[in-house]
Amino acid sequence: MIKKMDKVLIFDTTLRDGEQAPGASMNRDEKLAIASALEYMGVDIIEAGFPVSSPGDFESVKLVAKNVKKSIVAGLARSVKKDIDAAYDALKNAKHGRIHVFLATSNIHMKFKLKKSPDEVLAMAIEAVKYARGKMADVEFSAEDASRSDRDFLCKVIEAVIKAGATTVNIPDTVGYTVPSLFGQLIAHVKNNVPNINKAVISVHCHDDLGLSVSNSLAAVENGARQVECTVNGIGERAGNAAMEEIVMALKTRKDIYHCETNIKTAEICRVSRLVSKASGFAVAPNKAIVGGNAFLHESGIHQHGVLAERSTYEVIHGEDVGFTGTGLVLGKHSGRHGFSERLKLLGIKLTEAQIDQAFERFKIVADKKKEIYDEDLFAIIEDEVRIVKNIWTLHSLEYKSGTQVEPMMTIALKSSGKVVTKTLTGDGPVDACYKAIDLITKVKGELLDYNIHSVTQGEDAIGEVTIKLKAKQETVIAHGASTDIVEASAKAYINAVNKILSVKK
Ligand code: KIV
Ligand code: ZN
Repeated sequence: MIKKMDKVLIFDTTLRDGEQAPGASMNRDEKLAIASALEYMGVDIIEAGFPVSSPGDFESVKLVAKNVKKSIVAGLARSVKKDIDAAYDALKNAKHGRIHVFLATSNIHMKFKLKKSPDEVLAMAIEAVKYARGKMADVEFSAEDASRSDRDFLCKVIEAVIKAGATTVNIPDTVGYTVPSLFGQLIAHVKNNVPNINKAVISVHCHDDLGLSVSNSLAAVENGARQVECTVNGIGERAGNAAMEEIVMALKTRKDIYHCETNIKTAEICRVSRLVSKASGFAVAPNKAIVGGNAFLHESGIHQHGVLAERSTYEVIHGEDVGFTGTGLVLGKHSGRHGFSERLKLLGIKLTEAQIDQAFERFKIVADKKKEIYDEDLFAIIEDEVRIVKNIWTLHSLEYKSGTQVEPMMTIALKSSGKVVTKTLTGDGPVDACYKAIDLITKVKGELLDYNIHSVTQGEDAIGEVTIKLKAKQETVIAHGASTDIVEASAKAYINAVNKILSVKK
């Protein structure tokens, strides 16, 4: 007998728990770009932030709520009125909004963090859910640290919050402590012992402290969870959250085990992974499952031979299923503005007509140098040309010399408000000289905390992308610059970082 497929809802929390990863702060426009890409790829629920936590978070949730139409947009709130009010205010214009309230239920959290008795926690949870339901029809309740909570108490809280109106009940493994067999049993226990459980969706939310977050989430699905909370590339607090791409592909590849499917367009996975990696500044490890650069490469002769004879000898997933190859090649130098802007739309990149013109001009220059333009190139062009921050300084020109027998020297001209300022400096290398010169011109003395370069596409004519972390004027920012010339890319990344810092200050 063929078993019917159940739907597992994907709740993406890249913009909330993912952003809580140390050093991963994203600005509002980056968050909107990610939210649009998540919506396009079919994510059911996008957790856009924690509105009460800062005015910036509030505004980001509001912006995502206003723009995202297909996915449900969720905002996090502690189980207190102030948080729920803030979440509601940020979400009230959403087409589909969800208030996500949480409260810890483990003895250790109740005693040391909340300093409340179990009865007080139970009453607080009920009150919070009722209050949220008074404002919105879609309310999720999370029993923080559920995996370390007393099972009977957990079930009592879940039953009570469902009665109070929760439509989704989330069982987090907040500290990444559980293991698949135990977590599966816990979900089965909740399913079998909470009398009104069929009135809500069972959700899980696993952290990766022991490297088990994906396995734990899948064990939960096997035992009745029908919503999985996860992040793109697995970014998040400490060791991160369960990686969305791994869960989605495990469910898809092992339908024979899980008998479940998701709404995710898997061919978008690599693109979204790249977008998140760039915005968060966290590079994806080459051996990372599904989205790592080596995930679909076969190096050894035996493997290559096997794959050439029959792909399934060494491949359980095909790269094109997750957008790894094939679908990336899209445009060339003969592509017109229409094709260019259609492709941007498909990638979830929303630009004004003026921004499209600006990006298209740059596209033509790059397309002239490169024969083939990949989606990765497009992202690099957009990020480089259509700046999210104010273009206070722009690169006018640069010229440098470097070599084993000469002192590296850079002449760079930057433009601001129609005025061009030029400096020539020597340094340890052309990039060092360039950065010193930019410091002098912009009067922003930056401390370079991190510098990374990688090619965004294959081939000798690939675009090099430089990502830097710069600290200046008490601000730390991540910025990118892209060009077929890596020194130019380095200069652009630095200028972009300076502009970000000056925009924040403004
Ligand atoms: O890890 C956790 O418990 C959380 C909750 C707020 C859902 O992030
Ligand atoms: Zn979490």
